Formats: sequence, C-alpha cells, structure tokens
Amino acid sequence: MQRLPSEAEQHERIRTAVFQSSDGAVRLVADSIARLIRQCHDERRSAVLGLATGSTPVKLYKELIRLHRDEGLSFRNVVTFNLDEYYGLPPQHPESYRQFMEVQLFKHIDLPPENVHLPDGLIPRSEVFAYCQEYEHKILAAGGIDIQILGIGRTGHIGFNEPGSGIDSRTRMVALDRLTRRDAARDFRGVENVPAYAITMGVGTILQAKELALLAWGESKAGILREAIEGSQIDTVPASFLQRHPNCRCYIDEAAARELTRFRFPWKVGPVDWTPELIRKAVVSLATELKKPVLRLRDEDYAEKGLAGLLVETGSAYSLNIRIFNELQHTITGWPGGKPNADDSHRPVPADPAHKRVLVFGPEPLDAELGMAGTLHRMCRHQHEVTFAYLTSGNLGVPDNEARMAISLLNELNVDRSTSAQGKDRVDLLTDELEKKASFDEDSSILRHFKGLIRKAEARASCQVLGLDLAKVLFLDLAFYEKGRYRQFNATDEDVTAIRELCRRIQPHQIYLTGSGAEPGSVSGISFRLVSSALKECAAEVWMKACQVWLYASSERPWSPHEINMAVPLSPAELAVKLDCLYHHRSQRSQTPFLGSQSGESWQQAENNNRATAQHYDRLGLAEYEAIESFRREKESAVRGTF
Ligand code: PGA
Repeated sequence: MQRLPSEAEQHERIRTAVFQSSDGAVRLVADSIARLIRQCHDERRSAVLGLATGSTPVKLYKELIRLHRDEGLSFRNVVTFNLDEYYGLPPQHPESYRQFMEVQLFKHIDLPPENVHLPDGLIPRSEVFAYCQEYEHKILAAGGIDIQILGIGRTGHIGFNEPGSGIDSRTRMVALDRLTRRDAARDFRGVENVPAYAITMGVGTILQAKELALLAWGESKAGILREAIEGSQIDTVPASFLQRHPNCRCYIDEAAARELTRFRFPWKVGPVDWTPELIRKAVVSLATELKKPVLRLRDEDYAEKGLAGLLVETGSAYSLNIRIFNELQHTITGWPGGKPNADDSHRPVPADPAHKRVLVFGPEPLDAELGMAGTLHRMCRHQHEVTFAYLTSGNLGVPDNEARMAISLLNELNVDRSTSAQGKDRVDLLTDELEKKASFDEDSSILRHFKGLIRKAEARASCQVLGLDLAKVLFLDLAFYEKGRYRQFNATDEDVTAIRELCRRIQPHQIYLTGSGAEPGSVSGISFRLVSSALKECAAEVWMKACQVWLYASSERPWSPHEINMAVPLSPAELAVKLDCLYHHRSQRSQTPFLGSQSGESWQQAENNNRATAQHYDRLGLAEYEAIESFRREKESAVRGTF
C-alpha cells in the first residue's frame, strides 16, 4: 500500500529518503535489487534491470559486486538494459558507457554477455530510428524493466533526456545540453572532445519501468533535485515527470537534500525546535527574501512569512533582530588566526596562542587556493606557522598539451643530453609517448608523474604569491589518487595514516579542509572523508582537543551567511593577490565546470562567490566589503532522515 507522505515531506511529489551518507542509500537499493533477483529466480523468470552510468551509481555497483562475491548473489537470470550511450563512440572507447559498465560492473559478476543491452553508439545515422524502436521492443519482449536505476544531471536530465524532452518521448537520438557537455569535459579532457549526440531511452520509456530508483549525491545536485521533487511537472526539468510514476523513489544524501523545503525552511512544514542555528537561518532567510537589512525587519514581516511562532519564543522582532545582527557581526574577522591580546569572547578564533600552527589541506592543487587564498595570505602576514598539504598531485587534471609544452622546454634546455651513456632518458620517453598517444590513451606512470610535477610547480608558484614558506608546502601524493583514475579510486588505511601522521607531527591549533558537501566519489569528497577519519583517530590527543577544524567553501556554491561561522573580508588589493595566486594554476584553465558559470573559469567562479558573500552581508545591513571568504566550524551533521 502506498504510504502517505509525512508532515515533513508534504512538499515533495516524489517519495524521497535522505541518508546521512550515500553508503546507507546504496545498501538499501542493492538489497532491494538482490531481493528482486532472488524472487525472480524462485519464480523461474528473468529479473530485468535498467542500468545507469555516471559517478552516481558507482557505489551501488560496488555493493552489487560485493553481494555477488561475498553473499553468492548470482546474475545468471538477470537481463539488463542501459539508459543511454554516446553517439559516435565505439564500444572500446574508454569513455563509452559500454566500457564504463564493463569496468564498473559487468566484468566482476556472472551476468551472461548475451543478456546485456546498451544502445550502440555506432549505428549509421539512417538506421537510428529503426534501431531505437527495436531497443524498445527488446525491453517489452524481456517483460519490461523491473527496476530502473537513475541518476540526475544538473540540467534535470534522466538518461540523456535533456530539457525539452517530453513525457512521451521514446528511445531516440538526442543532442546533449551545453551544461551536460561541460560536466563531462573532465572525463573527455576538454569539452571539445565530448560527443554532441547520444542515444537515450525516452522519458516515456523510463516511466514504463515497474519501479524507479533515482540516486543523487552531493550539493551540486541540490538545486535541480528541488525542482524535480517539489516543482511542477515541466519538460524543462525532465526528471520532474518522475512525479507521475506510482512507484518512484529518490535515494539521496544530505548534501543533495539541502534545498528541499523540509531542510531549507523546516518551519514551513511543521513545528520546529528553535535551535540557535535554526533561528539564525530563519532570520537570514526572511531578510534575504524581503531584501531588508536584519535590523529593519518588523513584527509584521515575521508574521506574514509564517514566522509568528518564532516571535512567540523569542519576544519581539526588535530584540531578535539585534541578537542575529550581533551574531552575524561576530562572524566577521580580519584575524583568522586570532587577534593577539584582544578580547576574544565574541571572536571566532581564540587570541592565544598569538602565533598558531595552522594546517591546510587541499584535495587537489587549486582547491584550497580557490576557497581561502586570501585567508592564507593574511595568516602568513600575521606570522602564523602555516603548513599547506596538497593531498593529491592532481596529475589526472593536466591536459597533454600542457605536458607537451613543458617537454619542449626541457628539450630545448637539455642540449647535452645526447652525450649521456644511458640511451633513452626520461625526456626521450616522454617525448615519444606524447607524440604517439591518442587523446584518450591512459598516461604511463612516468607521464602521470611528469604531469604531477607541472602541477607542483604551479602550486609552488601560487604559494609564493601568498607568502607561504615553501619548506612547509607539502605534497602527500596520496596513494588512492596515484594508483587510481576518475571513478576508480580506492582509498585505504595507508591514505589515512599519511594524513594522521602529518597531523601528529604538526599538532596544529587550526585545521582547514573542504569537501563535506562534495560528491562522495570525487577527489574532494574522498579527501574529506580521509581527513575526517584521520582526525577521529587523533580525537583523544591533547592538541586535537584544542584544535579548531574549519571547512572552507568549494567553488560549487557560496554559503549563505547563516551557515558561516567565520567570514574573512578581503580588500580590493587582497582580492587581486588571490587572483594572482589562482592564475598560476594555468594548466587548469577551462578544466572544471562550475554551477552557474556557463562560461566561467573556476577562479572567476571563486571571485564571484567571494563577492556574492560580501554583497549578501551588505544587504543584511552589515559592513560593505569587496569580497569575503567564508568558513564553517566542522561539527556532526544534525540532518537525518529515512523513509
Ligand atoms: P553523474 O551524472 O552521476 O556523473 O553526476 C548523472 C547523470 O547525468 O545522469
């Protein structure tokens, strides 16, 4: 029987379960797939699975592989249909979805190859229509899809049904949206290499599956999920059509759920426990919505926007406004390492010790610089002892042409090389490889190492701009990254140990990290969990008990003032220093797509975010700064939820 939505879920038009992390979600989905497979086996029929590609289902496939390996789950009676495939890519292409499925799932389980169906990306153009009809017939002939796994793109696509795809659309050839192509740019080493077309099941095809499971992780999906789950059904957000399906569920993590009404405006869905954080959130939301400074909010403003209950608890608008204004004011500090000899009762950072040991973790080169270069610069000027640890080399993010340029420099410089008795040296080997390799060939270990050196050189140059001591700029080159590739990283205790030992050696008063809201399989998501585990292992140590752990914002989204515990203002001159630092990461030009900046470089996005935070503070009635870098105190997340 269909369960009615709870009070908290009343705005949600698709049943949605929110998990503290993706692990719990994938276990649940994998278990229901396993149950289906076993039930079909008992009924002597095939289980028909609809499969998806992308980062989202990787963990689910890992769990299915585990069930196969450790719990004897057999896929011999399973038939699969994949949602889509890039048009024009041969099946052996490393970025084809056929390859993805082989690597991530098929080669690890006992699924008979003849039971696998993926659209063929090489079908001649004139045969595409008939081919797509046949794909639909095959689904019907198999008895229809029992459970279809779905991810969601930031355009709201399901499969490759981009905005504009109607509810009745069927399997067909489609052009990919610009944002989708930008999101795939990293995999294809440049947006220009991303295919322009794909073959995808239609929205109508997807809706015919008996059960749908949409998975989503990370804050980059939060905005589009709100539209899909709470918005109207509209073909500009194809995922919103899932609302029509009687048996569709979303399984999402907290970061992806943050824009849903129950988390964004919990007071709109029912009585709430007015914690200090929630009060601040409500007041900031109200002021932002009404475009009024906090100190000018009136009792009527609260009442008209459903916040009368808050005034009952807190007295009048007058006293509440002053309280929140002061709280916001106290987040602002030009002394991110603490202000020596000052009263610190209302400051985010204690005054003592005057000179702090600070440990900053950057998942890949550039991440920490985007989030906190201005703050790093300030802390160096204030003579704190700053250690900057790059967790990974970032060598996967260096395009071949950057490596070619560096090699050509070496070739020019290394004029006497031919006199070496060793025959081919490394420069020769790299020159050969770069001449011969096709764009998608995997890099040899020496090429990866060389690309890592390029990023290290960029990183050192950028750190010098900030005044960091290069002896304290460390490159941990964590093994999970060096041994892996995108979507195939396996973090181990070895990685945690390297981080833990560094922490123990430095015994910092402050630690900075990022990635709490990142997609869990991304470098930044993995790095966050590794540092968190390392810090947990240090929890009993004296220095750790006194250590403040700060999160810096990613370029993915600027934080709202209610989420910020420390706001470090940047003057125009300091912002210029930050940009100068960022520009030194030249190999990263146009490498990373960011939300909301269709054309923007990551540093443009960081600048925009820092300016936007300053403007938001200004509009709330606080001082008007050029830009602000923002930080949150790391604490256990309070958001939880299940069915
Ligand atoms: P992602 O893609 O899992 O790589 O985020 C999802 C999708 O585009 O459907």
